[in-house]
Order: sequence, then structure tokens, then C-alpha cells
Amino acid sequence: MNFKLEYENRIKTIDKYISDYLNCAYADSHPILRDAMRYSVLNGGKRLRSILCMEICSSFGGKPDVAIKFASAIELIHAYSLVHDDLPAMDNDDMRRGQPSCHAKYGEAIGILCGDALLNSAYELMSSACSDQDTISALKVIANCAGACGMINGQILDIEISEKKEVSDSLFIEMIEQKTMALIRASVISGALIAGCTKEELEDMEKFAYSLGIAFQIRDDFEDMTEDMADKGDSPNFINYLGEDEARILMDKHARDSLEILKQYNCEFLILMHNFLFGY
Ligand code: IPE
Ligand code: IPE
Ligand code: MG
Repeated sequence: MNFKLEYENRIKTIDKYISDYLNCAYADSHPILRDAMRYSVLNGGKRLRSILCMEICSSFGGKPDVAIKFASAIELIHAYSLVHDDLPAMDNDDMRRGQPSCHAKYGEAIGILCGDALLNSAYELMSSACSDQDTISALKVIANCAGACGMINGQILDIEISEKKEVSDSLFIEMIEQKTMALIRASVISGALIAGCTKEELEDMEKFAYSLGIAFQIRDDFEDMTEDMADKGDSPNFINYLGEDEARILMDKHARDSLEILKQYNCEFLILMHNFLFGY
């Protein structure tokens, strides 16, 4: 398999699906809002979460035309979370994916409304794919992981920890589990549920999502370290929490654990993507 080509094809398929959906569903919305939504979701990105959902679903024999709706919806939720995360009241970041962030380009009010609209668009899309108990369960997992017991709670803990001098291990891990790992879990578990996988398979997918989530967050922290860290001094991350060496050991352990689980399943593309992310 030619990884680069296959990866580009997957990104193109997901981006086209999202682009067509936004054009069609929001043809009558205000052009600035529609522009800002398209700009914020179609501006690059690795598409890790949508690819996870599609590939896990396909490896358990699920239907790709159903998976792409959930995968695209997760990408819309991810885009909304980044638009709001960059706002002046949050991380106050003027750049996202190498370009001006949504509020830097369109203004703060449009940034807030664009995030709101992206989030709603995700649920509108997923509701159109809910036809049986498995798809309804997938929607519930995504809603739970993205909401006040998941990603949003993680964002609040992130702010709280930034303001503290001492942080317990349990609070730090809870923040990471919710802020980043929850949506990664949602991507993996929704894909597995849509495909109707067994209880044992679901347990393996939970372990896979957990290890991948931790490893991915540490990888992101190492990437941030190489970027401009001027405004990230207070941001809690694995490197300032554990130190570089321990963070790398933990990343390696979880990256390897997640790879071992992938190898037990029919996940050829994800194994190559794992190699692209972690290098083995
Ligand atoms: C960035 O996620 C923010 C985190 C939660 C770690 P990604 O690294 O997946 O962002 P994109 O989608 O590729 O830009
Ligand atoms: C973003 O986390 C997490 C969410 C949007 C939920 P970070 O603030 O650590 O990620 P970057 O550095 O902005 O991508
Ligand atoms: Mg941020």
C-alpha cells in the first residue's frame, strides 16, 4: 500500500463530503457564517479522528456511507473546539494550522457563532444517519465525549490547572483524558459501534483508544515545544509535568501498546498511519 497516496485520498474524500454537506445544508445561511465554517474546517488538519472512525468501522465490516457521516461530524466538532479554543478568552491564538485562526480572520463574534454553528451542524449530520440502535449508540458516545463530561470539562480543567502551582496526578490525567482523549475515544468507539462489533472487540477498542489518546497528546506536546512557545508557558502539558525523558518513555509505551492492538485486527492503513505519527 502506498501510504502517502492512500492518506491523501482519504483526506480528499472526507474534505469533499464535508464541503458538499456544508454547501448544501447551509446554502441559505449568512455568507460570512458559511465562509467562516468552511474556512475553519477545510483549512488542513491531519483528519486523525475522522480517519479513525472510518477505518475502525471498515475493519469490523461496517458501512462506509454511514461511517463517513459520523466521521465528518466528529471533524466538525473538532473544528468547533479549535475555533473556540483559539478565542481571546481561551488560548488567544491568532494562528491555527499555519493560517490566521477563525476569530483573527473574521472577528471574535463570528468566531463564537461559527463554533456554535459547526457544533450544531455535526448533530444535524449525525441525526440523518441514525437508523438503528448501533448508530444511535454511536451518536450518544460522541455527544457524551464532546460534552460536559468530556472535552468541554477537559477545557475547564486545563484553565484551572494553568492557574495552580501544584497539580495532583489524578487531576492532570483527568484533564488529558477529557480534553483530547475523549474525542479520540469517540472516533474509535463510534466506528466500532456502527459496525456492530462484539463486546470483546469493543473492550479492545477502548484500550486502543486510551493508549493512542495518551501517546497522541504527548506527541502534540512535543510538537508544541518546537513551535513558538511564547504564549504557552502556563499551558499544562506532559513535558512540563513529567519532564522530557519521562514523557517520551510514556509516549513510547502507549504508542507501542496501541500498535499491538491494531495488529490483532484488519487495520492495515491505521498501522501505516501509526507509523506516520510515531515512527515505528
Ligand atoms: C490538535 O489536534 C489539538 C489537540 C486536541 C491535541 P490535531 O493535532 O488532531 O489537530 P489537526 O486537526 O491535525 O489540526
Ligand atoms: C486543544 O488543546 C484542545 C481542544 C480544543 C479541546 P490545546 O490548546 O492544547 O491544543 P492547541 O495547541 O491549541 O492545538
Ligand atoms: Mg490551544
